[in-house]
Amino acid sequence: MPVYNEKVMEHFMSPRNVGEIENADGVGEVGNPVCGDMMTFYIKVNDNHISDVKYKTFGCGAAIAVSSMVSEMAMGKTLEEAKKITPALVAKELKGLPKNKYHCSNLGAQALNKAIDNYLKKQGKAAKSQKGGKK
Ligand code: FES
Repeated sequence: MPVYNEKVMEHFMSPRNVGEIENADGVGEVGNPVCGDMMTFYIKVNDNHISDVKYKTFGCGAAIAVSSMVSEMAMGKTLEEAKKITPALVAKELKGLPKNKYHCSNLGAQALNKAIDNYLKKQGKAAKSQKGGKK
């Protein structure tokens, strides 16, 4: 069993921002086929800033701690800033993860990124359908 540091344990035992956002502006889901863990991130966007972020994580202790940390790091950031949250940064904020748990931090950063991309894609579609609305 991996040995987690205090910071990781603290986020694992009391994860922040757990849940689901109804009518989320962006949703990103990722899974790791090797360990079978799954993570879904939900974001609300206001004036190009992440005004709310929640997640549902079915995974190991590190995946839960990573989700919690990513949600804290993303809250209030602009979309551009939030896109710069890398797995390495997440692991650093958690003061390190056991080597065999690095992939768990990838999941968190990827899920947030996907949620942002999903939001941007929807925006693009909305703009297009408005343009093409009149015939
Ligand atoms: Fe796969 Fe942690 S073991 S996300």
